[in-house]
Amino acid sequence: MEDSPWWRDAVVYEIYVRSFADASGDGVGDLAGIRSRLPYLAALGVDAIWLTPFYPSPMADGGYDVADYRDVDPLFGSLADFDALVADAHAHGLRLMVDIVPNHSSSAHPWFQKALAAPSGSEERDRYMFRDVTPSTGDGARQEPNNWVSVFGGPAWTQVADGQWYLHLFAPEQPDFNWRNPEVRQEFLDILRFWLDRGIDGFRIDVAMGLIKAPGLPDTDPGFGAKSPTWSRPEVHDIYRDWRRVLDSYPGVRAAVGEVWTDSAEDLALYVRPDELHQSFNFAWLEAPWSATAFRKVIDETLRAVPAPTWVLSNHDVVRHTTRYGEGAPDPSVGLARGHAALLAMLALPGSAYLYQGEELGLPEVKNLPPEARQDPIFFRSKGEVLGRDGCRVPIPWSGTAPPYGFGTGGSWLPQPVEWAGLTAERQAADPSSTLAFYRRALAARRSLRETLPDAMAWLEAPGDALFFSRGPLICAINCGTDPVRLPPHEQVLISSGLVDGQDLPPDTAAWLLTAE
Ligand code: GLC
Repeated sequence: MEDSPWWRDAVVYEIYVRSFADASGDGVGDLAGIRSRLPYLAALGVDAIWLTPFYPSPMADGGYDVADYRDVDPLFGSLADFDALVADAHAHGLRLMVDIVPNHSSSAHPWFQKALAAPSGSEERDRYMFRDVTPSTGDGARQEPNNWVSVFGGPAWTQVADGQWYLHLFAPEQPDFNWRNPEVRQEFLDILRFWLDRGIDGFRIDVAMGLIKAPGLPDTDPGFGAKSPTWSRPEVHDIYRDWRRVLDSYPGVRAAVGEVWTDSAEDLALYVRPDELHQSFNFAWLEAPWSATAFRKVIDETLRAVPAPTWVLSNHDVVRHTTRYGEGAPDPSVGLARGHAALLAMLALPGSAYLYQGEELGLPEVKNLPPEARQDPIFFRSKGEVLGRDGCRVPIPWSGTAPPYGFGTGGSWLPQPVEWAGLTAERQAADPSSTLAFYRRALAARRSLRETLPDAMAWLEAPGDALFFSRGPLICAINCGTDPVRLPPHEQVLISSGLVDGQDLPPDTAAWLLTAE
């Protein structure tokens, strides 16, 4: 594979490993399952795949609680399966990125187990964030060292047998590392090398903005405001400078994308300075409502601040966008039409795009999972008040007419809805009007234009709640309003997400137009 900065305009497909394809027949997806579906991904037309964590883990948070950073959980296969997957992915022309989870380990990690067995003030405890509650830190009303809350709900601290507390910004089974400890830093540089040596093309960095906490761990406003003592501390950037040096020391182009949730594109841009990460996720669009004004604001703010942007509409942590876009709409089925339109807009923009498995099948969020099937710690920590993320993690329907729809031979760890019989990849592959066929056409169209599109885009005047923008010979038009709008002058409609007569663009529809230029 060539030495180009492939990540700049790559379309990356997120594989939530537990839910993609199950070769072993235990109801959980695995690496061999992914291998068997590589031809599907190559035919879809993506450039790279990102695998969510497959490391040994007690699965308190679906594998984002890592007990051993240098192995594969038997649930997902073995290191030999991993090596075979890398080789096969490359043979299919697909790059492969893996998820790295540096903010916290699993509480089953040997380092944390040693920390529990060691006394307060020991080297073992210093790898994590253990604190005492003293008269000066306790405020009388609360027990914990400070008022931080877990992202998953409840306090961010858990007390151990000798009275000390440890910090976990997520579940109690996910103790936060102390990134001011040089041993932690060195360990992760070695972990990066371990996977780079196995031939991977890059990393997705989990909770990339969380590693460094403010000195003294001061109280914060509940819910973490913009000046949070936990997110985007200035010193976090030193870590990524070290990481970049490791990535650049390898042959070819090995890239890193940070999971960075921020309030501003300026903050996001700090992570992608030339000696830091290649990319950071840009969640602004995913958080925006279905509105031309909102989309334009996101695009403007992103392009103004971020040199090599990324775009994403769905992932394993949020409600699937076909469902989001249907909420509040007169007819929720417009969510799918809007999803198709948003895909075209996203793929027309400069930068790279991240797709989430199943969006190419138009899968909706599964809202009515039985409580006993749910596994997301958010559901349990909120005592069922917040449904959590299982609804976007339901295993993929591949074929057949009954669950588990070819996902595997041993059922599926979350039940699939009966309506998914009509949404299998097999069925959609045979139907030119399907979402899958549309995604394949859209990705092929993007590839066909790749060499001709300049880095910059320009806004054109657009009526109503529509957006028109151009990139070289391409014009992308998207109509978020309720009335048809007149298309700008063009030679040809290259692809559209709905019926376009050449003159008007219907509501909830997008089109790519070619101009003579
Ligand atoms: C990230 C992951 C999410 C996980 C959390 C804790 O946000 O995407 O799935 O629960 O980090 O690791």
